[in-house]
Amino acid sequence: MDTIAAIYGRRSIRDYEPRRVPRPLIEAILRDAAQAPTPPVSGEAPFVFIVIEGLERIAEYGAAALAFARQHRRPGTASDWVEKPGFLVFFNAPAVVIVCGFDDGYGQAIQDCSRAGQNLMLSAHARALGTCWVGSPMQWLRDPATSASLGVPAGYTPHAAFTLGYPSKVPGANPRGMPEIIWRA
Ligand SMILES: Cc1cc2nc3c(=O)[nH]c(=O)nc-3n(C[C@H](O)[C@H](O)[C@H](O)COP(=O)(O)O)c2cc1C
Repeated sequence: MDTIAAIYGRRSIRDYEPRRVPRPLIEAILRDAAQAPTPPVSGEAPFVFIVIEGLERIAEYGAAALAFARQHRRPGTASDWVEKPGFLVFFNAPAVVIVCGFDDGYGQAIQDCSRAGQNLMLSAHARALGTCWVGSPMQWLRDPATSASLGVPAGYTPHAAFTLGYPSKVPGANPRGMPEIIWRA
């Protein structure tokens, strides 16, 4: 798929077919994600990807993330979703990817993971898969007990999470408006 078509055609997918995504395909997408540029301070291994597979496991993790968010709700934050009946953190996705960044001490890890995440979404779309960047589980993912149970290596922090699978429902196009451009000529 042409890069421009991927940029304009990608949408957040919140309904998936139950079938597994083959591991070689997930690996190809993660290799694409890792082509994102990183500065020298991020080192030779700026990312670790944790892949969670299996509908039941993902549903359990989603319920744990929602319960954690409910218990640790911070006043003044946009967290109405925690009280939504039937809210599913990971929808019905058959795979979830957690992007962890290396804590380099220069504050680059979040940007590194965001660049890799954008590559991941575009690559998945170009390969006929769907993704949704999900911020809702991040509080739970960054809790030391969760990070330890998922095997996040020392020195890395989860900074982005994505559902991944074959889309069941695809929303229509949603082109953004043109932001202001300030020319200096
Ligand atoms: C950092 C980030 C966090 C997001 N978190 C969630 C989320 O927790 N749940 C969700 O359904 N969508 C989430 N989204 C998806 C956005 O709602 C979506 O990207 C936006 O509505 C634009 O739609 P599009 O991706 O189809 O163009 C998140 C997107 C970003 C970039």
